[in-house]
Amino acid sequence: MKQTGEVMTQTRVSPGYYLMEVRCPSVADGSHPGQFVHVRCTGGLDPLLRRPLSIHRVNRQHGSFALLYRVQGKGTQLLSQKRPGDKLDLLGPLGKGFNLSLGIPTRACIHSGAKPDASLGNGFEAEPGSARDREEAVLAAGGIGVAPLVYLAEELLALGRRVLFLVGARSASDLVALGALEELQEGCHDRLRVVICTDDGSVGFRGSVAVPLEETVACRRVAAVFACGPEAMLARVIEICRQGGVPGQVSLEARMACGVGACLGCACRLHSDPGQGWPSLEPGKAVHPGTPDGSGIRTGSGKPVYAKVCREGPVFDMEEVIPE
Ligand SMILES: Cc1cc2nc3c(=O)[nH]c(=O)nc-3n(C[C@H](O)[C@H](O)[C@H](O)COP(=O)(O)OP(=O)(O)OC[C@H]3O[C@@H](n4cnc5c(N)ncnc54)[C@H](O)[C@@H]3O)c2cc1C
Ligand code: FES
Repeated sequence: MKQTGEVMTQTRVSPGYYLMEVRCPSVADGSHPGQFVHVRCTGGLDPLLRRPLSIHRVNRQHGSFALLYRVQGKGTQLLSQKRPGDKLDLLGPLGKGFNLSLGIPTRACIHSGAKPDASLGNGFEAEPGSARDREEAVLAAGGIGVAPLVYLAEELLALGRRVLFLVGARSASDLVALGALEELQEGCHDRLRVVICTDDGSVGFRGSVAVPLEETVACRRVAAVFACGPEAMLARVIEICRQGGVPGQVSLEARMACGVGACLGCACRLHSDPGQGWPSLEPGKAVHPGTPDGSGIRTGSGKPVYAKVCREGPVFDMEEVIPE
């Protein structure tokens, strides 16, 4: 699992944000959207610990993957100084990623028979309620949380799914993945729609991605929601999905040490019986039986349990997450 990658490119995409391409065929071949690599940012002792970064894109043909990161402190600052040809000491791919078939078939629509509203406001045009529309996956990104969701969008599109990508950021200069999304749009025959939101309204809609998400979920066209971003945004996304009975997954962040489940440094609290799902349309049944290991409905005491974000996550079913 310990790998040595080689930096191919290092590009400053916006002040404080970098895109780094790394040649490392084993990560490129073996990774899944939502997984991360644990990177040593320096050959020295400070910082001693590795830093977790999501796999942003993969190019299997070239045996490479990309990281999209914001300079936060010393580790990411040192990482931004790496140049093409430099070696990168990393562990990965690590963790559990997103469930690409979440929400198929779309129980909410099947059981409710709901039809999309004629108008969703905010520029969202409702389309006729065909089965394809109902299978739309919605991705909600806040800030640098966009990094793993681009890889997820690419894989969902490759599976033939429709994707609505809600991209939120503080301001125009924090929208650092629009180029990648345009690339994806070119090859997917209108199956990817992108909606931009900024806190200051400098581009797209003013406000959080929660607003268009709520409107979209309200018309029941959504098969599943996948989200990554700041805690407050994730809490709101989870609430919207719970109220709408829509299955979803979130990628959580935690400070990490070992990155492989050995130190308990990244523990987070979860509901112990997430298999109960959101409030069900059919009494006694979960909206979907997703569990991180794909084994089906869990049983539990109803008391919170602790999970290691690095090993059992970073992606969790929304219904098991206790928003902080
Ligand atoms: C699974 C996972 C995937 C991630 N993917 C990405 C990614 O694709 N792109 C990206 O830019 N960042 C990502 N992060 C966050 C990234 O790991 C941190 O920004 C990085 O570790 C900071 O290291 P540093 O040495 O630069 O900053 P430090 O000096 O360690 O910290 C600087 C400041 O940032 C805060 N901070 C650092 N790490 C975190 C964290 N994980 N959560 C909350 N606050 C933190 C510290 O409290 C401190 O105030 C991810 C985190 C996790 C857990
Ligand atoms: S970072 Fe050590 S258990 Fe997760």
